[in-house]
Amino acid sequence: KNEPLVLFMPSGKRGRFPVGTPILDAARSLGVYVESVCGGRATCGRCQVSVQEGNFAKHKIVSSNDHISPFGPKEQRYASVRQLPDGRRLSCSAQILGDLVIDVPQDTVINAQVVRKAATDRVIERNAAVQLCYVEIDEPDMHKPLGDFDRMKAVLEKDWGWKDLLIAPHLIPQVQGILRKGNWTVTAAIHRDMDSSRPFIVGLWPGLKNEAYGVACDIGSTTIAMHLVSLLSGRIAASSGTSNPQIRFGEDLMSRVSYVMMNPDGREAMTKAVRDAVNDLIGKVCAEGEVDRHDILDLVFVGNPIMHHLFLGIDPTELGQAPFALAVSGALQYWAHEIDIEVNRGARIYMLPCIAGHVGADAAGATLSEGPHRQDNMMLLVDVGTNAEIVLGNKERVVAASSPTGPAFEGAEISSGQRAAPGAIERVRIDPETLEPRFRVIGVDKWSDEEGFAEAAAAVGVTGICGSAIIEVVAEMYLTGIISQDGVVDGAMAAKSPRIIPNGRTFSYLLHDGAQRITVTQNDIRAIQLAKSALYAGIKLLMEKQGVDHVDTIRFAGAFGSFIDPKYAMVLGLIPDCDLTEVKAVGNAAGTGALMALLNRGHRREIEQTVRKIEKIETALESKFQEHFVNAMAMPNKVDAFPKLAE
Ligand code: FES
Repeated sequence: KNEPLVLFMPSGKRGRFPVGTPILDAARSLGVYVESVCGGRATCGRCQVSVQEGNFAKHKIVSSNDHISPFGPKEQRYASVRQLPDGRRLSCSAQILGDLVIDVPQDTVINAQVVRKAATDRVIERNAAVQLCYVEIDEPDMHKPLGDFDRMKAVLEKDWGWKDLLIAPHLIPQVQGILRKGNWTVTAAIHRDMDSSRPFIVGLWPGLKNEAYGVACDIGSTTIAMHLVSLLSGRIAASSGTSNPQIRFGEDLMSRVSYVMMNPDGREAMTKAVRDAVNDLIGKVCAEGEVDRHDILDLVFVGNPIMHHLFLGIDPTELGQAPFALAVSGALQYWAHEIDIEVNRGARIYMLPCIAGHVGADAAGATLSEGPHRQDNMMLLVDVGTNAEIVLGNKERVVAASSPTGPAFEGAEISSGQRAAPGAIERVRIDPETLEPRFRVIGVDKWSDEEGFAEAAAAVGVTGICGSAIIEVVAEMYLTGIISQDGVVDGAMAAKSPRIIPNGRTFSYLLHDGAQRITVTQNDIRAIQLAKSALYAGIKLLMEKQGVDHVDTIRFAGAFGSFIDPKYAMVLGLIPDCDLTEVKAVGNAAGTGALMALLNRGHRREIEQTVRKIEKIETALESKFQEHFVNAMAMPNKVDAFPKLAE
């Protein structure tokens, strides 16, 4: 047929349409998501697109602005009153006259700003669970005694194609007032991802309401991180974080579980603490993004199983002991007010599913973000905390486990260890000849052997070593022969360098001799060996389950992963051999996954199905775990080769 060919970017969907078809209709019929609130009345401005001009030989399309209808009166009015950015058109008004390549603006590009050192910029296709629908309703008529709500519902169904609309009960008493205030025009927020599968009116405003927001939140045991996002444009209005106030009940997860077990009101207190913190953080992102918290209509949460349970008010005691039973593993939905989250009265909460007793909704979020289940390649995804969550797989099969790494990677259990904060050593190099160290300190923009370091460092102090530097210093000590393959500090080196100092029956390495003496002791090295062996043994078990002896790509999620240098991680044998260019830190991938589920409800189904299929491996029950653990104590490993490292 000779009808014009229209190609939509970036999705690449294409089709032929009769001359005169509104671009919005063409997009809809191809399943290209273009937002619309006013239902094509050229008033909301949400349906903007732009035309790409040029000869797209590959697609056999010559696209130009002449192939689109000129501004009609309504679009002209919108452009002059509300201003239309250069090159943008309202797709509900602009019609197809010839072949076109249409750009649908995708505002949610997650880039390095949002995700520290993100592997790639990524575009999330928008298909939010909440949609705003503007309608105009007939005034009541004594001859037609249908209720105001019922007439509104009928128009919503007719204009927007909804079927069997339900309404949140709290809105019913407000319907008449809102309709009259809006002079018989109203915008309804429709949630189309309810458990019931029937669309639900969750919000109502008089006249045209042109913005609705969502929140994606990762509840970590240390930090709570949040994005505030426009559900219509996908724009990130603000991102922020706060520390988890549950820390006062226990630093790590198990101590929080014990707190619940020991204190009759422990669970309630911790649930309240985390919900208060989430409410405060919502206040903070709203202030930053200049958004009214009552405009928040949809929220997505991820967290490890214990954070997940405590946030939802579930006793986590069962997670503290074998068989680590989750109260509920599937995805969950709530009204926000049911769990005391202070946003719009009709807002909904979606909680990602948990994978297993130690592999939570945070790992599900990271899986959704990095997508091992979408790969041909074998991808290893690790999130290192006191418990490492490990996911390994490809399109065919995905397996997951957790491994008890303990807190050493976070600087705990290390004699001079500390959290990553100003004053902490974050990078270390050791000269192979002299065994003299050079290092960098957080908050000081210089290496320790650079001019002006002493003055700059005096301001913040040199107070300890953070997790990334512990990995580096132990790896450097191994590379320079200060420690053997088994991790023993070679006392004979003391004759060669004053940096090797006796410490009881063992030896330490003196990293910094300032106001605070910072040494790496034999015990520190042991703690790192134990942690890295646990991680590696968990990974190795999963590799055996998959029947592979190497992985193609490695993704490090979480804060720890953002700071460590993959080369040093491999020198120590934390992770299996892999092409170094294929090892990437992906920042808070769990939070990115939450954002994806917020902006596109298709991702909710995707992760629900994926999690159901993931095979869970309980490391404690695997007889080979101990053997892998022992082999992994050596650097990088007693039995496994690291050919890529040698290259
Ligand atoms: Fe509202 Fe086009 S759909 S302006």
